[in-house]
Amino acid sequence: MRIAVFAGDGIGPEVTEQALRVLEKLELPGLELVEGDVGGAAYRKHGHPLPAQTLDIARSADAILFGAVGDFTLDHLERALRPEQAVLGLRKELGLFANLRPAQVFAGLEDLSTLRPEVSGKIDLLIVRELTGDVYFGEKGTRTLEDGRRQGWDMMSYAEDEVRRIAHVGFKAAQGRSKKLCSVDKANVLETSQLWRDVVIEVSAEYPDVELSHMYVDNAAMQLVKNPGAFDVIVTGNLFGDILSDQASMCVGSIGLLASASLAEGTYGLYEPIHGSAPDIAGKGLANPMATILSAAMLLRHSFGLEEPAARIEAAVAAALAAGVKGGDLGGNAGTKEIGDAVLAHL
Ligand code: IPM
Ligand code: MG
Repeated sequence: MRIAVFAGDGIGPEVTEQALRVLEKLELPGLELVEGDVGGAAYRKHGHPLPAQTLDIARSADAILFGAVGDFTLDHLERALRPEQAVLGLRKELGLFANLRPAQVFAGLEDLSTLRPEVSGKIDLLIVRELTGDVYFGEKGTRTLEDGRRQGWDMMSYAEDEVRRIAHVGFKAAQGRSKKLCSVDKANVLETSQLWRDVVIEVSAEYPDVELSHMYVDNAAMQLVKNPGAFDVIVTGNLFGDILSDQASMCVGSIGLLASASLAEGTYGLYEPIHGSAPDIAGKGLANPMATILSAAMLLRHSFGLEEPAARIEAAVAAALAAGVKGGDLGGNAGTKEIGDAVLAHL
């Protein structure tokens, strides 16, 4: 069980440290942790946000626990050297095409949402986001038009095999939940989305037990705040999934509680909180490490098939929350280490 630990920037190291305490406490046989540099931290040390040695560590491991990347003081760098390229590069290089972003409301935390508690309390959904294609990874550039105007451009595309494999992940996830899958696209405007929809419908023939529906992304954004409880599994492309998953996290009430898995074919995966590096509170011991701790639980479940310790971690987080241990993001005043201590105590 070799786990690459890439803590990254901002609050990444603090929250990762608490997740490692939790993993170590479980005394899993064969657990081996190996650290690597990513993001702005890696750029400062090695001149690149995703140095070759970090990729080597990733390839030598069975899974990655990832903190966060992002450092606004480096935003002036050319795009290829910006901290965000670390996570984009890992996704592409390692074929991490399937991003699972669950969002559910913990009992007792319904009031944190800006939605009414009777609405937010019903949220229990999973966004399956395609992660290595779409406008994120298409050709892009800036050019000057003949009339002298500057133009930025980014190419959006999906090949049918890319859609098919993420559709399978979506349908299988739906089979393990309430057997409802909603595919989100913008097929009324985009050719990319029309092909997406056609292929998802083709794949659905293999899953007669799953009820498939389609929704335009603008409507999906609206339904997510109107009646989020109506969603179970959502499958969507890279850009729409990026936006809808942040929105879903706010419907829950805090981005500080949401974990994610980015999976390759097989069992390899990268696990990270969906929040960013939060430079405003970095280094102050204020960040809520729960999303990273829950990401470690997803790691045990998806990459190692260790359901029992994964469920134990999740139960410990829920118990700590139920006991009133809340970070600033949840309106409480528990610090990073204190939250880690509380989760360990409930483990
Ligand atoms: C995410 C983030 C990334 C993305 C950024 C950091 C490149 O927002 O994981 O959702 O856009 O995919
Ligand atoms: Mg995002």
